[in-house]
Amino acid sequence: MKKLVTLTVNGLEQEVVVAPHHTLLDVLRREFKLFSVREGCGIGMCGACTVLLDGKPVSSCLLLAALAAEHEIVTVESLAEGSRLHPIQQAFVDHTAFQCSYCTPGFILTTKVLLEENPAPTADEVKAYLAGNLCRCGSYVKILDAVLDAAQRLQIEPQPSSAG
Ligand code: FES
Ligand code: FES
Repeated sequence: MKKLVTLTVNGLEQEVVVAPHHTLLDVLRREFKLFSVREGCGIGMCGACTVLLDGKPVSSCLLLAALAAEHEIVTVESLAEGSRLHPIQQAFVDHTAFQCSYCTPGFILTTKVLLEENPAPTADEVKAYLAGNLCRCGSYVKILDAVLDAAQRLQIEPQPSSAG
């Protein structure tokens, strides 16, 4: 049976009607029109659907929307300030760390949490943390360059944490 739930997405509360089987991925795209949240595998293996839930990266394809009520949900749409990209986004652009960019929002959100937890990671630490995010275009070398560069930028220009 469908029910009304309140989801807090990018700082805004919105009531939506969801069925028990609707995933957060479905609802963010259909009801919130947040198309950065993308379906790749649909089974928690690729990271394309990554969002932050209470500041931690989760696969929104695996989370039922009704269970996300009472939690803070963040998507990549909230990172830029007007036309000014978040330093991680800017580093991805400057390093051309994508080809089709389907995977990019997931990589950027996971990177955001990595750099909050570990502001100066080694290359191996970056690879290990981002292991759940796949890039079918194979842009991994440039993504690694962008993440390491973003770490340096954030040390110069710290940003608010993803937990809001
Ligand atoms: S679509 Fe969710 S992890 Fe692949
Ligand atoms: S840039 Fe195409 S999947 Fe990563």
